[in-house]
Amino acid sequence: MSVMTEDNPTSGSDQPIEDRVNNRSQRPSSEAFKEFMASHWAPADTSLPPEDAVAPFAAQRRRKLSERFPGERLVVPAGPLKVRSNDTDYRFRPHSGFAHLTGLGLDHEPDAVLVFEPVADGTGDDGGNHRATLYFRPMAGRDSEEFYSNARTGEFWIGPRPTLAELQARLGLPTAHMDEKLEDAITENAGNQALGGLRIRLLRDVDLNCDALVDTSRINTAVDLEESDRLDAELAEALSEIRLVKDEWEVEQMRTAVQATINGFHQVAKALPRAVEHKRGERVVEGAFFARAREEGNDLGYDTIAASGNNATVLHWIHNNGQVNAGDMILVDAGVEADSLYTADITRTLPVNGTYSEVQRKVYQAVLDAQGAAFEVAKPGSRFRDLHQAAITVLAQRLDEWGLLPVSLEEALSDEGQQHRRWMPHGTSHHLGLDVHDCAQAKRELYLDGVLEPGMVFTIEPGLYFKAEDLAVPEEYRGIGVRLEDDVLVTEDGCVNLSADLPRSPDEIEAWLKAQQG
Ligand code: GLY
Ligand code: MN
Ligand code: MN
Repeated sequence: MSVMTEDNPTSGSDQPIEDRVNNRSQRPSSEAFKEFMASHWAPADTSLPPEDAVAPFAAQRRRKLSERFPGERLVVPAGPLKVRSNDTDYRFRPHSGFAHLTGLGLDHEPDAVLVFEPVADGTGDDGGNHRATLYFRPMAGRDSEEFYSNARTGEFWIGPRPTLAELQARLGLPTAHMDEKLEDAITENAGNQALGGLRIRLLRDVDLNCDALVDTSRINTAVDLEESDRLDAELAEALSEIRLVKDEWEVEQMRTAVQATINGFHQVAKALPRAVEHKRGERVVEGAFFARAREEGNDLGYDTIAASGNNATVLHWIHNNGQVNAGDMILVDAGVEADSLYTADITRTLPVNGTYSEVQRKVYQAVLDAQGAAFEVAKPGSRFRDLHQAAITVLAQRLDEWGLLPVSLEEALSDEGQQHRRWMPHGTSHHLGLDVHDCAQAKRELYLDGVLEPGMVFTIEPGLYFKAEDLAVPEEYRGIGVRLEDDVLVTEDGCVNLSADLPRSPDEIEAWLKAQQG
């Protein structure tokens, strides 16, 4: 706790710099105040909640991880609160690997750590090789000073937080107080395996305290630090890889996130006329979507791109401070993150005045056709990289038909060519889930070179971007950027477009804008 103790105040230049943040605090320090604040509160509700629907799925995920690392202790932190500025924090979001293994979503649980303790093979949770325990700081009682004095953890400041019994009941997972037991749980018997010590693998760079604890233990027990880095990286890799195929509960969460995102796009369509009137119309669009993200979900899954006119050719345009002009198109790339922290990722490129011009429609149709080609190969047995290949080939063909390629189509498509990529320099697909770019630490063999399986969820998002200053294309194309992005679930015999309810074709989009704007 970083609150200055009123019993021992210091001031002037002798006061430690880290204490000065509390110089505006005028909380009384009298014993009478403390005693009164810690009394006369109704008892907390101690009834236990039912198990969360996600609990059995999270248990299966932990089992999968356990299979990979028998005999080793695994440490997976949620991460701490992150400072936005001075004494103001961002809303808490746990590391996605932690969220996956516990099923915990929004707000849970700063500083928590999930520890997998190895047991004799097959005698652990669900017949696995480990017993997992969740260590966290439970809510302090209303008779404690923390209750009213701690702005980061006290119920008086931030509302109720779970008790040990509550999270244990919800998650079907043993819980323990981190202050009392975490250090031992991480370091006990740890050491160099050759000398009979227990190997620890840590999800690094999530919680500096855990990093320090594990590093100190390793140094003190003659563990090779370089090798440890490699072992830790393998844990991060595994946490990504066990998320490549989504379970039934996760697919449901993806559907929820996608539906909220579609609802957000309806608000964007409604907001377009007001955006045109505003000097920072892109912010009007961003705000319209954000309202839905907060109303229906936890947050945005990533910063919205609201890019009008030439800004649409800037791939990560998140300033969103441009004007929205009739006659231009606006590219909106946005996703709602559900309370479970799963996110959608959808892009539409809309005609600001409701109707695509001839050249806008031509470019849009090429991107739509490229997307269609990728949908065709989105089925079990295809390789992930085939999605990109299918889409990019169509785009290269169109660019060739329009006379934009400086070489033949064949030469452009060869490894030595690739000139068409000037106008589509990004990938066509990425896995999607708890992170917008999900499973990013998976091995290349399982990601780019991986074979599609039922339960995988990814985007298909081809685009064409002709910058205003691109002298390689005729003037009519300059300042046009189009991307079309949908979220796809691989099924037993093909795929479903989870975002199919949001109009895609130029005709559908024009009709939808009209309907939304009434
Ligand atoms: N919005 C980030 C992406 O589409 O990958
Ligand atoms: Mn994407
Ligand atoms: Mn996107």
